[in-house]
Amino acid sequence: MYFIANWKMYGNTNSLNTLNKVIKFSKSKEINKGRIIYCPPFTLISSFFRKFQNCLIDIGAQNCHESDDYGPHTGFINSRMLKNIGANYVIIGHSENREKGETNKLINQKIKSALKANLKVIFCIGETLKEKKNGKTKSVLLRQIKKGLNKISKKKNCFIAYEPVWSIGTGKVPKLKDLEETIKFIKNKFGKKKPKILYGGSVNPKNINDLKTIKDLDGFLIGGASQNSKKFIDIIKKTYN
Ligand code: PGA
Repeated sequence: MYFIANWKMYGNTNSLNTLNKVIKFSKSKEINKGRIIYCPPFTLISSFFRKFQNCLIDIGAQNCHESDDYGPHTGFINSRMLKNIGANYVIIGHSENREKGETNKLINQKIKSALKANLKVIFCIGETLKEKKNGKTKSVLLRQIKKGLNKISKKKNCFIAYEPVWSIGTGKVPKLKDLEETIKFIKNKFGKKKPKILYGGSVNPKNINDLKTIKDLDGFLIGGASQNSKKFIDIIKKTYN
């Protein structure tokens, strides 16, 4: 199972100390088959990379520019630069960026550039509360998948993170029955080579006992709770207990 920590726009150099507990845990038997990936803000990627040098914790970024080439794009960072400083993953299509105008087309370009730079992609999809209430969940997800992965053949390097927008940072998670159905729906949209499917949205040490029972899930994308090492470790431990 994958446990991906999305730190969003939190953390500074003082946060590095909080990683000690997780590093220790990652070397213990309790980690079991868990794989940890941290996605800190850009400013901390290099420091996290150095910190994780002697353990198996991996690093990702939270976004990238759509071009994998260098160019006159003030304030942006491309996938090649991320790979160069030690990132192996990148989150693309997070709803917090879609909200700011990131379109499916732009997301598709970003995914292509990330794959070209040999990054693995954590591709986020999810419906808003309004879309859910209008019974549009499946059609929204299908559109996001089709457009986001348009003309992409190397799908095995794309993880799909199902994150209902209404459940991010709200403490609300979908009913287990609904979640299981949605995960199955997403998986069935792919042929023989199924991508890894993650769930994200208010995952915490309390609800993990329920969430871990969802069939066919390959891991979790964890925001708020991942910034607290104790909670993050608790989530992983409970997944295997
Ligand atoms: P959350 O965030 O766990 O704080 O809900 C998840 C995410 O945005 O990836």
